Amino acid sequence: MFADFVLRPVTAADVPAVERVTGEAFHDLDTRAHRTGWPKPARRTEESSARWRERLDHVLRTDPRGCWVAEDRGGILGAAVSMKRDLTWLLSAYAVRPGVQGRGVGRQLLDAALGYGSGCLRGMIAASEDPAAARRYRLGGFTLHPAMLLTGTVDRAALPVVEQVREGSPGDIDLMNSVDRQVRDSAHGVDHELLTRTYRLVVVDRFAGSGYAYVAPGGGAYLLAATTRRVATELLWETLAASSPDAPATISHVTAANEWAVDVGTACHLALHTRGYLGLRGMKPPTPYLHSPHFL
Ligand SMILES: CC(C)(COP(=O)(O)OP(=O)(O)OC[C@H]1O[C@@H](n2cnc3c(N)ncnc32)[C@H](O)[C@@H]1OP(=O)(O)O)[C@@H](O)C(=O)NCCC(=O)NCCS
Repeated sequence: MFADFVLRPVTAADVPAVERVTGEAFHDLDTRAHRTGWPKPARRTEESSARWRERLDHVLRTDPRGCWVAEDRGGILGAAVSMKRDLTWLLSAYAVRPGVQGRGVGRQLLDAALGYGSGCLRGMIAASEDPAAARRYRLGGFTLHPAMLLTGTVDRAALPVVEQVREGSPGDIDLMNSVDRQVRDSAHGVDHELLTRTYRLVVVDRFAGSGYAYVAPGGGAYLLAATTRRVATELLWETLAASSPDAPATISHVTAANEWAVDVGTACHLALHTRGYLGLRGMKPPTPYLHSPHFL
């Protein structure tokens, strides 16, 4: 047990250090995964680090009491960043510096973040494949739903013509909140303001069903929600069409409840793997839905 550290709320001045610690922890996790056959890990780019800091600034504004750091005299050891949307508690980030993992720092951080969510009816965590994280989440009462990932170069000959998918804008936030509530009981609310500034948005809004997807930078969906599988499938195809013909695209965070997404990835010859979990409390895996790693 590692005793000589304190827990305190995150301040705006901590944001760069928290970003660095989480970057180190995930690079270390990816290095361990590489030994078991996963691709060589890459460090965050300056652009992705900046996006990470912008996200933390956003959660600090909306949920300052959900954001915790552990520190000792040497600096920040780890952080847990959580938020509440309607009556759902969501874990947005959770990491401890590689050299001090496994000594109880993560347990205290997660307990503090979970305390912020007391009174919430539901909880969501996009869990990594780290066994230490999975242990903490299960002990925290979360059901771990294994998740799949499909990756590879999209077979462009398989791309169907998708009609009635249009570009979205901040004017679609009410529509998106309504879809969120139908699919997962809670709206993303203020997160859509940041997301619409950060990602390309595509939307379907017709009598028979509606939905939206934020397009990940390399193609595929960063977050996708729809009221029917048909709309979800069309949106996912649209996000895959945005991938480059020479670079791999990824469909991540696919639970077994979302086989429609496995079918899309299979149709365009992406390779299917398992990776991480969707940790849930008080709810079933949302569908048709591909959750975001940071805003769930
Ligand atoms: C997940 C993480 C934040 C936990 O922080 P931590 O300080 O290591 O957590 P703790 O030491 O409090 O708890 C880890 C638990 O897992 C156990 N553990 C560690 N390695 C393990 C392994 N390979 N298999 C099973 N259990 C393991 C530890 O014994 C400990 O359990 P215990 O306290 O009941 O003995 C940290 O390990 C980390 O940063 N991992 C990489 C990034 C990551 O995956 N973050 C989660 C994002 S969803």
